[in-house]
Amino acid sequence: MAKKIGITETVLRDAHQSLIATRMPIGDMEPMLEQLDQIGFHSLECWGGATFDSCLRFLNEDPWERLRIIRKKCPNTKLQMLFRGQNMLGYRHYADDVLEYFVQRSVANGIDIMRIFDALNDIRNLETAIKSCKKEGGHAQVAISYTTGPVFDIDYYVDYAKRIRDTGADSICIKDMAGLLTPYGTYDLVKALKETVDIPIQLHSHYTSGLASMVLLKGIEAGADVVDTAMSPLALGTSHPATESMVAALQGTEYDTGLNLVALSKIREHVDTLRQKYIESGLLNPKMLAVDAKTLLYQVPGGMLSNLVSQLEQAGKSDKFEEVLAEVPRVRKDAGYPPLVTPSSQIVGTQSVFNVITGERYKMVTKEFKDLIAGRYGRTPTEIDPAFRKKICGDAEIITCRPADLIEPELDKLRSELDSKYVKQEEDVLSYAQFGQVALKFFEQREKQEEATEQGKPAEQVKAVDAEGDTPANFRVTINGKAFDVSVE
Ligand code: CO
Repeated sequence: MAKKIGITETVLRDAHQSLIATRMPIGDMEPMLEQLDQIGFHSLECWGGATFDSCLRFLNEDPWERLRIIRKKCPNTKLQMLFRGQNMLGYRHYADDVLEYFVQRSVANGIDIMRIFDALNDIRNLETAIKSCKKEGGHAQVAISYTTGPVFDIDYYVDYAKRIRDTGADSICIKDMAGLLTPYGTYDLVKALKETVDIPIQLHSHYTSGLASMVLLKGIEAGADVVDTAMSPLALGTSHPATESMVAALQGTEYDTGLNLVALSKIREHVDTLRQKYIESGLLNPKMLAVDAKTLLYQVPGGMLSNLVSQLEQAGKSDKFEEVLAEVPRVRKDAGYPPLVTPSSQIVGTQSVFNVITGERYKMVTKEFKDLIAGRYGRTPTEIDPAFRKKICGDAEIITCRPADLIEPELDKLRSELDSKYVKQEEDVLSYAQFGQVALKFFEQREKQEEATEQGKPAEQVKAVDAEGDTPANFRVTINGKAFDVSVE
């Protein structure tokens, strides 16, 4: 019997997160929402990841309102979000009560599928999110952070997949953020997972190294049920294989997606005007669209490479690029081989830069790196050498439990901190929980905008929130639009 392959369209989230630092505003999405809803996609990935941060920090947009608009215009298609487990959409671990409330409000505002991952593949960091999602009636998909290295063989992934299944998750995604999957490796991996678990397997592979279309095809042949693609004008490069090409490739075969290429081409026209606009404004750097086979050699995500370049430029040490690239795998090994994905990619990347530019390894250690070594992000894939841990952490407390077990409930405290004059909806406390000052500035702007509208004044040209301006002791790194603060002790 023919098996219909599902397509998750990523143009509303990962495509622009990967190509234009997550800067697509809702106004650019609205003209195509109704058409997207008519296609018959398995799901529309449209929320979470860095979009929440970007809405508040750069676009002066309420992320919750964005979700409600998409939900209203797409009543027939499942809406999907990306969720960083216990980190939610922020960069630290949150208490369970905040997480449960966030999941509840996400589903209530329209999310159907939550794709949940942990940077360390520590299942304990996913359990509360999975349980909450199921409780709210959502589909809990767990994404395996795919990486390479001595421990990451098929057995590692099979073992993790079993643990995922045992949590009651509804499906598994292989999340290849760096484009490291190869076609035949994918075939073997998907086959092994399909033989192990009976929940659907989805594939997410960035095009960075030029292999992703082949990866999806071999994955489909091995039994993958759903694949992620992006409408062609915002596909390829650091984004995903093109939706139309994948639909065409499978048409008339046992894997036919059933999607209509003519209907897709109408949406393509709109996405193409966006592409032109982003290139003209400089948002879309044509470099991002090229194949970067270096990622296969260095095994680091494309976004991380460009981040290292900018950190070195800031420090006036651009000539140290090759040295830093050689340092990344060493730091990763010392740190117990974390997959390189937010936030571990930033932590390992920044520490590698410091190790090189100070001229002495671990002379300067970021707080985040220390926390990673102390177990504060969870269990790393391999054990950390006790002597190294001692060197980095000194007498600081070492954590072996689930990190969130150490966090007291914090929802009431956050509510009491928030000045009620700016609160317009119950979800505001969740924006504040994750983005603090950035959220407060956004609330203030929103208030001003509303006052101006009420007084019949022409809506003030409100500038995006400027949240830069850190003290010199802090380092802000931005990767794929996700701002990440690291402080140096
Ligand atoms: Co991605």
